[in-house]
This record gives sequence, structure tokens and C-alpha cells, in this order.
Amino acid sequence: MAIERTLSIIKPDAVAKNVIGKIYDRFESAGLKIIASKMAHLSQSEAEQFYAVHAARPFFKDLVSFMISGPVMIQVLQGEGAIAKNRDLMGATDPKKADAGTIRADFADSIDANAVHGSDAPETAAVEIAFFFPGMNVFAR
Ligand code: PPS
Repeated sequence: MAIERTLSIIKPDAVAKNVIGKIYDRFESAGLKIIASKMAHLSQSEAEQFYAVHAARPFFKDLVSFMISGPVMIQVLQGEGAIAKNRDLMGATDPKKADAGTIRADFADSIDANAVHGSDAPETAAVEIAFFFPGMNVFAR
């Protein structure tokens, strides 16, 4: 399987719950390397740009308000099949439907406050990584 990179965000609900380390452990235990990371408090404009693909969806405003409600932890994960592997670790969008043992089943409260984001395809991963880590802020190893 190819080595891939994916963009991961630990959302404001999970940062507030103080579980960044527990979520990082899931990534590392699954063989994913954290090759860039930063904490940020997104502006409304940044959140709207990042989620622009969902602008027409009924939950767009709620999603943006939630994502700017507190700091987030943003990272690039690298590893074999990293995009699918991270989505498997995350679990379903709605934590009520997420498999036991996934990040969302264990740490998320609702479909609005669902703990983590992960890129869904190589094309979106490239765009999302460039959005948050332009230039030389990614340390491949
Ligand atoms: S996904 O993960 O992209 O396949 O899921 P999708 O259903 O397309 O949802 C896109 C993003 O919107 C979030 N979402 C919601 N936010 C608030 N309220 C409701 N009802 C809701 N439904 C979906 C979902 O978590 C996705 O955000 P990210 O950050 O990509 O996980």
C-alpha cells in the first residue's frame, strides 16, 4: 500500500476534554507518524474557507460556529494508506453510529461535536494540507 499523507484536526470539543494525547496515541499505535502539527483558534473566514465545499449544506453555519468555538489541534499524518486508516480510526461521522473503539465512539458527543476531522481522499488531503501547512512546515521522515 502507498505511503500517504492526510490532514487531521482534533476539534474544539476534544481539545476541551483534554484528550489530545489519547487521540495522538491512537494515530501512533496504528503506525501513523505525526509529521506536522500546530494548535490554532480558527477565524470565521478560515473555517468558512476550509469547509467551503459544504457551503450549501444546511449545517454549514453550525459547523463553522462550532469549529471557531475554541482551539483546535491540526496535524499531518503520514503512513501506509494513511487516509483510509485515519478514517477507520475516526469512525462514522455520527458518533452514535461509530464502531466501538473508534475515536468518535469514545470521545465525541454528537454529530455536531464529533471530535475529529480527517481528509477523505488524496486530492482533498493535498488541498487541506496546503491550506494549513503551506511551504516547509511538514517534516517527512
Ligand atoms: S464526511 O466526514 O465529510 O464524509 O461527512 P459529511 O456527512 O459529508 O459531513 C461533512 C462535514 O460536516 C460535518 N457535519 C455536521 N456538522 C454539524 N451538524 C451536522 N448535522 C453535521 N453533519 C455533518 C461532518 O462532521 C463533516 O465535518 P468534518 O470536519 O469533515 O468531519
